[in-house]
Amino acid sequence: MAVITNIDDLKQIYRRRVPKMFYDYAESGSWTEQTFRENVTDFDKIRLRQRVAVDMTGRSTATQMIGEDVSMPVALAPVGLTGMQCADGEIKAAKAAEDFGVPFVLSTMSICSIEDVAENTTKPFWFQVYTLKDDDFMKRLFDRARAANCSAIVITVDLQLLGQRHKDLKNGLSAPPKLTVKSVANMMTKVQWGLGMLGTKRRFFGNIVGHAAGVTDPSSLSEWTASAFDQTLDWDRIRQFKKMWGGKVILKGILDVEDAKKAVDVGVDAIIVSNHGGRQLDGALSAIRALGPILEAVGDNVEVHLDSGIRSGQDVLKAMAMGAKGTYIGRAYTYGLGAMGQAGVTKTLEVIHREMDLTMGLCGRRRIDELDRDVLLIPKGFAGEWE
Ligand SMILES: Cc1cc2nc3c(=O)[nH]c(=O)nc-3n(C[C@H](O)[C@H](O)[C@H](O)COP(=O)(O)O)c2cc1C
Repeated sequence: MAVITNIDDLKQIYRRRVPKMFYDYAESGSWTEQTFRENVTDFDKIRLRQRVAVDMTGRSTATQMIGEDVSMPVALAPVGLTGMQCADGEIKAAKAAEDFGVPFVLSTMSICSIEDVAENTTKPFWFQVYTLKDDDFMKRLFDRARAANCSAIVITVDLQLLGQRHKDLKNGLSAPPKLTVKSVANMMTKVQWGLGMLGTKRRFFGNIVGHAAGVTDPSSLSEWTASAFDQTLDWDRIRQFKKMWGGKVILKGILDVEDAKKAVDVGVDAIIVSNHGGRQLDGALSAIRALGPILEAVGDNVEVHLDSGIRSGQDVLKAMAMGAKGTYIGRAYTYGLGAMGQAGVTKTLEVIHREMDLTMGLCGRRRIDELDRDVLLIPKGFAGEWE
Protein backbone atom coordinates (compact mmCIF):
# COMPACT_ATOMS: atom_id res chain seq x y z
CA MET A 1 0.00 0.00 0.00
CA ALA A 2 1.22 3.48 -0.88
CA VAL A 3 2.42 5.70 1.95
CA ILE A 4 -0.32 8.20 2.75
CA THR A 5 1.05 11.57 3.75
CA ASN A 6 -1.71 14.03 2.88
CA ILE A 7 -5.42 14.38 2.18
CA ASP A 8 -4.94 14.30 -1.58
CA ASP A 9 -3.42 10.80 -1.31
CA LEU A 10 -6.66 9.64 0.32
CA LYS A 11 -8.69 11.37 -2.39
CA GLN A 12 -6.87 9.46 -5.13
CA ILE A 13 -7.58 6.11 -3.45
CA TYR A 14 -11.19 7.15 -2.78
CA ARG A 15 -11.65 7.97 -6.45
CA ARG A 16 -10.57 4.47 -7.46
CA ARG A 17 -12.65 2.61 -4.86
CA VAL A 18 -16.09 4.26 -4.88
CA PRO A 19 -18.68 4.30 -7.73
CA LYS A 20 -18.43 7.40 -9.88
CA MET A 21 -21.91 8.58 -8.90
CA PHE A 22 -20.90 8.93 -5.23
CA TYR A 23 -17.45 10.35 -5.94
CA ASP A 24 -19.08 12.99 -8.14
CA TYR A 25 -21.70 13.68 -5.47
CA ALA A 26 -18.99 14.62 -2.98
CA GLU A 27 -16.55 16.20 -5.36
CA SER A 28 -18.76 18.86 -6.85
CA GLY A 29 -20.07 22.31 -6.22
CA SER A 30 -23.05 24.04 -7.73
CA TRP A 31 -23.13 25.47 -11.27
CA THR A 32 -19.66 26.67 -12.35
CA GLU A 33 -18.10 25.49 -9.06
CA GLN A 34 -16.38 28.85 -8.57
CA THR A 35 -17.15 28.98 -4.84
CA PHE A 36 -16.25 25.31 -4.44
CA ARG A 37 -12.80 26.02 -5.96
CA GLU A 38 -12.20 29.32 -4.17
CA ASN A 39 -12.98 27.78 -0.78
CA VAL A 40 -9.71 25.90 -1.23
CA THR A 41 -7.59 28.38 -3.22
CA ASP A 42 -8.36 31.31 -0.90
CA PHE A 43 -6.78 29.45 2.01
CA ASP A 44 -3.56 29.35 -0.04
CA LYS A 45 -3.51 33.14 -0.29
CA ILE A 46 -2.91 33.46 3.44
CA ARG A 47 0.73 32.96 4.40
CA LEU A 48 2.31 32.03 7.72
CA ARG A 49 4.98 33.81 9.74
CA GLN A 50 7.98 31.63 10.41
CA ARG A 51 9.38 32.23 13.90
CA VAL A 52 12.59 30.75 15.30
CA ALA A 53 14.34 30.23 18.61
CA VAL A 54 11.07 29.80 20.48
CA ASP A 55 10.68 26.81 22.81
CA MET A 56 8.28 24.54 20.96
CA THR A 57 8.15 21.61 23.35
CA GLY A 58 4.93 20.47 25.00
CA ARG A 59 2.65 21.47 22.16
CA SER A 60 -1.06 20.65 22.34
CA THR A 61 -3.91 21.08 19.88
CA ALA A 62 -6.52 20.40 22.56
CA THR A 63 -9.22 22.99 23.15
CA GLN A 64 -13.02 23.21 23.51
CA MET A 65 -15.90 23.62 21.08
CA ILE A 66 -19.23 24.74 22.64
CA GLY A 67 -17.82 23.81 26.03
CA GLU A 68 -16.89 20.25 25.02
CA ASP A 69 -13.28 19.07 25.18
CA VAL A 70 -11.77 18.27 21.78
CA SER A 71 -8.33 16.89 20.99
CA MET A 72 -8.16 19.37 18.11
CA PRO A 73 -10.68 21.93 16.88
CA VAL A 74 -11.85 19.86 13.92
CA ALA A 75 -15.31 18.27 13.86
CA LEU A 76 -16.64 15.93 11.18
CA ALA A 77 -19.26 17.96 9.29
CA PRO A 78 -22.70 16.54 8.49
CA VAL A 79 -22.44 14.77 5.14
CA GLY A 80 -25.52 13.21 3.56
CA LEU A 81 -25.35 9.72 2.04
CA THR A 82 -22.13 8.90 3.89
CA GLY A 83 -23.32 5.30 4.15
CA MET A 84 -23.15 5.13 0.35
CA GLN A 85 -19.47 6.12 0.26
CA CYS A 86 -18.72 3.03 2.35
CA ALA A 87 -21.05 0.47 3.95
CA ASP A 88 -22.24 1.69 7.38
CA GLY A 89 -20.19 4.85 6.73
CA GLU A 90 -21.77 7.04 9.40
CA ILE A 91 -21.10 4.46 12.13
CA LYS A 92 -17.48 4.09 11.00
CA ALA A 93 -16.89 7.84 10.83
CA ALA A 94 -18.52 8.40 14.23
CA LYS A 95 -16.32 5.72 15.80
CA ALA A 96 -13.18 7.24 14.28
CA ALA A 97 -14.18 10.68 15.59
CA GLU A 98 -14.92 9.30 19.04
CA ASP A 99 -11.56 7.53 19.25
CA PHE A 100 -9.75 10.68 18.13
CA GLY A 101 -11.64 12.92 20.54
CA VAL A 102 -13.35 15.19 18.01
CA PRO A 103 -17.10 15.81 17.49
CA PHE A 104 -19.08 13.90 14.88
CA VAL A 105 -22.12 15.55 13.32
CA LEU A 106 -24.72 13.17 11.89
CA SER A 107 -26.71 14.47 8.91
CA THR A 108 -30.49 14.12 8.74
CA MET A 109 -29.87 12.74 5.24
CA SER A 110 -27.66 9.94 6.52
CA ILE A 111 -27.98 6.27 5.63
CA CYS A 112 -27.38 4.98 9.18
CA SER A 113 -30.05 6.31 11.54
CA ILE A 114 -29.59 8.31 14.75
CA GLU A 115 -30.28 5.10 16.66
CA ASP A 116 -27.74 3.11 14.61
CA VAL A 117 -25.00 5.61 15.43
CA ALA A 118 -25.99 5.85 19.11
CA GLU A 119 -25.94 2.05 19.49
CA ASN A 120 -22.44 1.85 18.05
CA THR A 121 -20.77 4.72 19.92
CA THR A 122 -20.37 5.63 23.56
CA LYS A 123 -19.95 9.43 23.55
CA PRO A 124 -22.62 11.97 22.61
CA PHE A 125 -22.54 13.13 18.99
CA TRP A 126 -24.16 16.18 17.41
CA PHE A 127 -27.16 15.92 15.11
CA GLN A 128 -27.81 18.14 12.08
CA VAL A 129 -31.31 19.08 11.02
CA TYR A 130 -32.66 20.84 7.99
CA THR A 131 -35.41 23.38 8.53
CA LEU A 132 -38.40 21.36 7.39
CA LYS A 133 -42.07 22.35 7.27
CA ASP A 134 -43.43 19.29 9.04
CA ASP A 135 -43.54 20.14 12.76
CA ASP A 136 -44.42 16.60 13.82
CA PHE A 137 -41.47 15.20 11.96
CA MET A 138 -39.16 17.88 13.40
CA LYS A 139 -40.39 17.18 16.95
CA ARG A 140 -39.88 13.48 16.47
CA LEU A 141 -36.36 14.09 15.14
CA PHE A 142 -35.55 16.15 18.23
CA ASP A 143 -37.05 13.46 20.48
CA ARG A 144 -34.96 10.81 18.77
CA ALA A 145 -31.82 12.97 19.06
CA ARG A 146 -32.52 13.48 22.78
CA ALA A 147 -33.09 9.76 23.29
CA ALA A 148 -29.77 9.13 21.53
CA ASN A 149 -28.09 11.50 23.99
CA CYS A 150 -26.99 14.01 21.31
CA SER A 151 -25.34 16.95 23.05
CA ALA A 152 -26.11 19.62 20.42
CA ILE A 153 -28.08 20.15 17.26
CA VAL A 154 -26.72 21.84 14.19
CA ILE A 155 -29.44 23.67 12.26
CA THR A 156 -28.52 24.11 8.61
CA VAL A 157 -30.00 27.35 7.31
CA ASP A 158 -28.56 27.56 3.81
CA LEU A 159 -30.54 24.83 2.11
CA GLN A 160 -34.21 25.60 1.66
CA LEU A 161 -33.58 25.16 -2.05
CA LEU A 162 -31.06 22.76 -3.48
CA GLY A 163 -28.19 24.34 -5.43
CA GLN A 164 -27.96 22.71 -8.84
CA ARG A 165 -25.07 20.29 -9.18
CA HIS A 166 -24.79 19.25 -12.79
CA LYS A 167 -23.08 15.92 -12.20
CA ASP A 168 -25.76 14.60 -9.81
CA LEU A 169 -28.46 15.27 -12.39
CA LYS A 170 -26.45 13.63 -15.14
CA ASN A 171 -25.59 10.62 -12.96
CA GLY A 172 -29.19 10.19 -11.73
CA LEU A 173 -27.87 10.11 -8.13
CA SER A 174 -29.98 8.08 -5.71
CA ALA A 175 -29.71 5.84 -2.64
CA PRO A 176 -29.63 2.98 -3.29
CA PRO A 177 -28.15 3.67 -6.72
CA LYS A 178 -30.44 3.36 -9.75
CA LEU A 179 -29.44 0.35 -11.76
CA THR A 180 -28.68 1.49 -15.28
CA VAL A 181 -26.32 -0.28 -17.66
CA LYS A 182 -23.76 2.48 -17.06
CA SER A 183 -24.03 2.56 -13.26
CA VAL A 184 -23.93 -1.24 -12.95
CA ALA A 185 -20.88 -1.41 -15.25
CA ASN A 186 -19.14 1.16 -13.07
CA MET A 187 -20.15 -0.49 -9.78
CA MET A 188 -18.87 -3.87 -10.95
CA THR A 189 -15.37 -2.42 -11.01
CA LYS A 190 -15.65 -1.40 -7.32
CA VAL A 191 -15.47 -4.84 -5.76
CA GLN A 192 -14.65 -3.92 -2.17
CA TRP A 193 -17.36 -1.27 -2.10
CA GLY A 194 -19.91 -3.71 -3.55
CA LEU A 195 -19.10 -6.47 -1.06
CA GLY A 196 -19.47 -3.99 1.78
CA MET A 197 -22.86 -2.89 0.50
CA LEU A 198 -24.06 -6.48 0.08
CA GLY A 199 -23.06 -7.12 3.68
CA THR A 200 -25.18 -4.35 5.25
CA LYS A 201 -28.90 -3.76 5.51
CA ARG A 202 -28.35 0.01 5.69
CA ARG A 203 -28.85 1.31 2.17
CA PHE A 204 -31.69 3.85 2.52
CA PHE A 205 -32.12 7.14 4.36
CA GLY A 206 -32.30 5.74 7.89
CA ASN A 207 -33.66 8.87 9.58
CA ILE A 208 -36.51 9.34 7.13
CA VAL A 209 -37.86 6.16 5.57
CA GLY A 210 -40.41 4.78 8.02
CA HIS A 211 -40.32 7.99 10.14
CA ALA A 212 -41.72 10.77 7.91
CA ALA A 213 -45.47 10.56 7.26
CA GLY A 214 -46.13 8.73 3.99
CA VAL A 215 -42.51 7.75 3.41
CA THR A 216 -42.57 4.00 3.76
CA ASP A 217 -40.13 3.09 1.03
CA PRO A 218 -37.32 4.76 -0.87
CA SER A 219 -39.46 5.50 -3.91
CA SER A 220 -41.77 7.85 -1.97
CA LEU A 221 -38.75 9.69 -0.54
CA SER A 222 -38.01 11.97 -3.48
CA GLU A 223 -41.57 13.35 -3.42
CA TRP A 224 -41.25 13.97 0.31
CA THR A 225 -37.89 15.73 -0.07
CA ALA A 226 -39.23 18.05 -2.76
CA SER A 227 -42.10 19.19 -0.55
CA ALA A 228 -40.48 18.99 2.91
CA PHE A 229 -37.96 21.83 2.74
CA ASP A 230 -39.44 25.09 3.98
CA GLN A 231 -38.93 28.06 1.70
CA THR A 232 -40.78 30.32 4.14
CA LEU A 233 -38.04 29.90 6.76
CA ASP A 234 -37.41 33.04 8.84
CA TRP A 235 -35.68 33.93 12.13
CA ASP A 236 -38.85 33.28 14.17
CA ARG A 237 -38.98 29.76 12.83
CA ILE A 238 -35.34 29.28 13.82
CA ARG A 239 -36.26 30.50 17.33
CA GLN A 240 -39.08 27.88 17.37
CA PHE A 241 -36.62 25.11 16.52
CA LYS A 242 -34.29 26.29 19.27
CA LYS A 243 -37.17 26.11 21.73
CA MET A 244 -38.36 22.71 20.47
CA TRP A 245 -34.88 21.31 21.06
CA GLY A 246 -34.13 23.08 24.34
CA GLY A 247 -30.40 22.33 24.32
CA LYS A 248 -27.27 23.62 22.63
CA VAL A 249 -27.75 24.95 19.11
CA ILE A 250 -25.21 25.60 16.36
CA LEU A 251 -26.40 27.52 13.29
CA LYS A 252 -24.75 26.35 10.10
CA GLY A 253 -24.51 28.28 6.85
CA ILE A 254 -23.88 31.91 7.85
CA LEU A 255 -21.84 33.90 5.32
CA ASP A 256 -22.99 37.47 5.83
CA VAL A 257 -22.36 39.91 8.69
CA GLU A 258 -26.03 40.92 8.89
CA ASP A 259 -27.12 37.27 9.21
CA ALA A 260 -24.44 36.67 11.83
CA LYS A 261 -25.89 39.52 13.93
CA LYS A 262 -29.37 38.02 13.60
CA ALA A 263 -28.04 34.66 14.71
CA VAL A 264 -26.60 36.32 17.81
CA ASP A 265 -30.05 37.80 18.56
CA VAL A 266 -31.52 34.28 18.49
CA GLY A 267 -29.01 33.35 21.19
CA VAL A 268 -27.38 30.30 19.59
CA ASP A 269 -24.28 28.69 21.09
CA ALA A 270 -22.23 28.89 17.90
CA ILE A 271 -22.48 29.79 14.24
CA ILE A 272 -20.69 28.07 11.40
CA VAL A 273 -19.38 30.41 8.71
CA SER A 274 -20.03 28.16 5.74
CA ASN A 275 -21.23 28.12 2.14
CA HIS A 276 -22.05 24.41 2.33
CA GLY A 277 -18.73 23.53 0.70
CA GLY A 278 -19.66 25.52 -2.41
CA ARG A 279 -22.69 23.33 -3.04
CA GLN A 280 -25.38 26.00 -2.71
CA LEU A 281 -24.93 29.59 -3.97
CA ASP A 282 -22.22 29.51 -6.59
CA GLY A 283 -20.56 32.94 -6.77
CA ALA A 284 -20.76 33.42 -3.00
CA LEU A 285 -17.57 34.33 -1.14
CA SER A 286 -15.30 31.60 0.09
CA ALA A 287 -15.83 30.89 3.78
CA ILE A 288 -12.31 31.93 4.79
CA ARG A 289 -12.78 35.34 3.13
CA ALA A 290 -16.12 35.83 4.87
CA LEU A 291 -14.70 34.88 8.27
CA GLY A 292 -12.79 38.08 9.18
CA PRO A 293 -15.67 40.58 8.92
CA ILE A 294 -18.04 38.20 10.73
CA LEU A 295 -15.56 37.79 13.58
CA GLU A 296 -15.17 41.55 13.84
CA ALA A 297 -18.94 42.00 14.02
CA VAL A 298 -19.95 39.18 16.39
CA GLY A 299 -16.81 37.35 17.52
CA ASP A 300 -17.16 38.62 21.09
CA ASN A 301 -20.80 37.57 21.37
CA VAL A 302 -20.91 34.07 19.95
CA GLU A 303 -18.56 31.21 19.21
CA VAL A 304 -17.68 31.39 15.52
CA HIS A 305 -16.77 28.18 13.70
CA LEU A 306 -15.87 27.68 10.03
CA ASP A 307 -16.15 25.03 7.37
CA SER A 308 -15.77 24.87 3.56
CA GLY A 309 -12.44 24.27 1.89
CA ILE A 310 -10.36 22.74 4.69
CA ARG A 311 -7.97 20.19 3.24
CA SER A 312 -5.07 20.40 5.70
CA GLY A 313 -4.03 21.15 9.25
CA GLN A 314 -2.57 24.42 7.99
CA ASP A 315 -6.05 25.47 6.82
CA VAL A 316 -7.40 24.70 10.29
CA LEU A 317 -4.59 26.72 11.86
CA LYS A 318 -5.29 29.68 9.56
CA ALA A 319 -8.99 29.74 10.51
CA MET A 320 -8.17 29.42 14.21
CA ALA A 321 -5.49 32.13 14.06
CA MET A 322 -8.00 34.46 12.42
CA GLY A 323 -10.19 33.95 15.47
CA ALA A 324 -12.48 30.99 14.80
CA LYS A 325 -13.12 28.70 17.78
CA GLY A 326 -13.56 25.53 15.75
CA THR A 327 -13.66 24.07 12.26
CA TYR A 328 -15.34 21.19 10.40
CA ILE A 329 -14.22 18.97 7.54
CA GLY A 330 -16.66 17.44 5.05
CA ARG A 331 -14.92 16.14 1.97
CA ALA A 332 -11.55 15.56 3.66
CA TYR A 333 -13.00 12.79 5.83
CA THR A 334 -15.28 11.50 3.08
CA TYR A 335 -12.15 10.80 1.01
CA GLY A 336 -10.67 8.86 3.92
CA LEU A 337 -13.87 6.90 4.49
CA GLY A 338 -14.31 5.96 0.83
CA ALA A 339 -10.64 5.03 0.59
CA MET A 340 -10.25 2.88 3.71
CA GLY A 341 -13.39 2.90 5.87
CA GLN A 342 -12.98 3.73 9.56
CA ALA A 343 -9.17 3.50 9.31
CA GLY A 344 -9.30 6.05 6.50
CA VAL A 345 -11.22 8.56 8.63
CA THR A 346 -8.67 8.04 11.39
CA LYS A 347 -5.94 8.61 8.81
CA THR A 348 -7.59 11.89 7.75
CA LEU A 349 -7.64 13.07 11.35
CA GLU A 350 -4.03 11.99 11.92
CA VAL A 351 -2.83 13.81 8.80
CA ILE A 352 -4.62 17.01 9.78
CA HIS A 353 -3.45 16.79 13.37
CA ARG A 354 0.16 16.29 12.37
CA GLU A 355 0.08 19.17 9.91
CA MET A 356 -1.46 21.42 12.49
CA ASP A 357 0.90 20.45 15.27
CA LEU A 358 4.07 20.87 13.18
CA THR A 359 2.87 24.18 11.76
CA MET A 360 2.12 25.48 15.25
CA GLY A 361 5.66 24.64 16.29
CA LEU A 362 7.23 26.25 13.21
CA CYS A 363 5.17 29.38 13.86
CA GLY A 364 6.48 29.46 17.42
CA ARG A 365 3.21 28.60 19.16
CA ARG A 366 2.43 25.74 21.52
CA ARG A 367 -1.24 25.98 22.30
CA ILE A 368 -4.43 26.82 20.45
CA ASP A 369 -5.09 29.83 22.65
CA GLU A 370 -1.70 31.24 21.59
CA LEU A 371 -2.78 31.34 17.93
CA ASP A 372 -3.69 34.83 16.81
CA ARG A 373 -3.49 37.00 13.72
CA ASP A 374 0.19 37.69 14.39
CA VAL A 375 0.86 34.22 13.03
CA LEU A 376 -0.70 35.10 9.69
CA LEU A 377 0.21 37.20 6.70
CA ILE A 378 -3.14 38.10 5.21
CA PRO A 379 -3.07 39.87 1.85
CA LYS A 380 -4.46 43.40 1.80
CA GLY A 381 -8.11 43.50 0.86
CA PHE A 382 -8.49 39.75 1.52
CA ALA A 383 -12.05 40.18 2.78
CA GLY A 384 -12.76 41.89 -0.54
CA GLU A 385 -13.69 45.40 -1.42
CA TRP A 386 -17.00 44.73 -3.06
CA GLU A 387 -19.54 47.35 -4.07
C1 LIG B 1 -21.20 15.02 -0.08
C2 LIG B 1 -21.64 16.11 0.84
C3 LIG B 1 -22.86 16.00 1.49
C4 LIG B 1 -23.27 16.99 2.39
N1 LIG B 1 -24.44 16.83 3.09
C5 LIG B 1 -24.77 17.75 4.02
C6 LIG B 1 -25.92 17.55 4.84
O1 LIG B 1 -26.61 16.55 4.74
N2 LIG B 1 -26.22 18.52 5.73
C7 LIG B 1 -25.46 19.65 5.88
O2 LIG B 1 -25.78 20.51 6.71
N3 LIG B 1 -24.37 19.84 5.14
C8 LIG B 1 -24.01 18.92 4.23
N4 LIG B 1 -22.87 19.10 3.49
C9 LIG B 1 -22.00 20.27 3.76
C10 LIG B 1 -20.98 19.93 4.84
O3 LIG B 1 -21.58 19.81 6.09
C11 LIG B 1 -19.91 21.03 4.94
O4 LIG B 1 -20.54 22.28 5.06
C12 LIG B 1 -18.97 21.04 3.74
O5 LIG B 1 -18.65 19.74 3.33
C13 LIG B 1 -17.70 21.79 4.10
O6 LIG B 1 -16.87 21.91 3.01
P1 LIG B 1 -15.65 20.90 2.70
O7 LIG B 1 -16.27 19.67 2.10
O8 LIG B 1 -14.83 21.67 1.72
O9 LIG B 1 -14.95 20.60 4.00
C14 LIG B 1 -22.45 18.13 2.60
C15 LIG B 1 -21.21 18.22 1.93
C16 LIG B 1 -20.81 17.23 1.08
C17 LIG B 1 -19.46 17.34 0.40
